Amino acid sequence: MKVKVSRKEHFNAAHRLYNPAWSDEKNAHIFGKCSNPNYHGHNYEIIVTLTGTPDPETGYVFDMKVLSDLIREHVTSKFDHKNLNLDTEYFKGLNPTAENIAVVIWKILRDKIDSSLDLKITLYETERNYVEYPAP
Ligand code: NI
Repeated sequence: MKVKVSRKEHFNAAHRLYNPAWSDEKNAHIFGKCSNPNYHGHNYEIIVTLTGTPDPETGYVFDMKVLSDLIREHVTSKFDHKNLNLDTEYFKGLNPTAENIAVVIWKILRDKIDSSLDLKITLYETERNYVEYPAP
């Protein structure tokens, strides 16, 4: 019997979407306002979902307090109120799209959580735009 459990956390961060191989005009055309040279912010919502079998002794798939602490220690404390392009090591050569941010977060958390549990990241960049990794 498998059960999915999820924890939602939040961070604010700035970014700029930009492909250095392209002209400013092409970047503006492809990425629109998200390519603003002076950066801009988003209120990101991150949902970390674990799927596994509840422990027979606790009834938990995973302790939500521990999950919250893991997300805060390894993800939101590194990204919150940061410029993702300039202030984090993860996006030096990687465009900080919602897709890439979700993959980065998945990679950060994957080796912190027992491999018997499936891990999925859902990242909302706006209320209407969100991505999931891995894709179902
Ligand atoms: Ni943006």
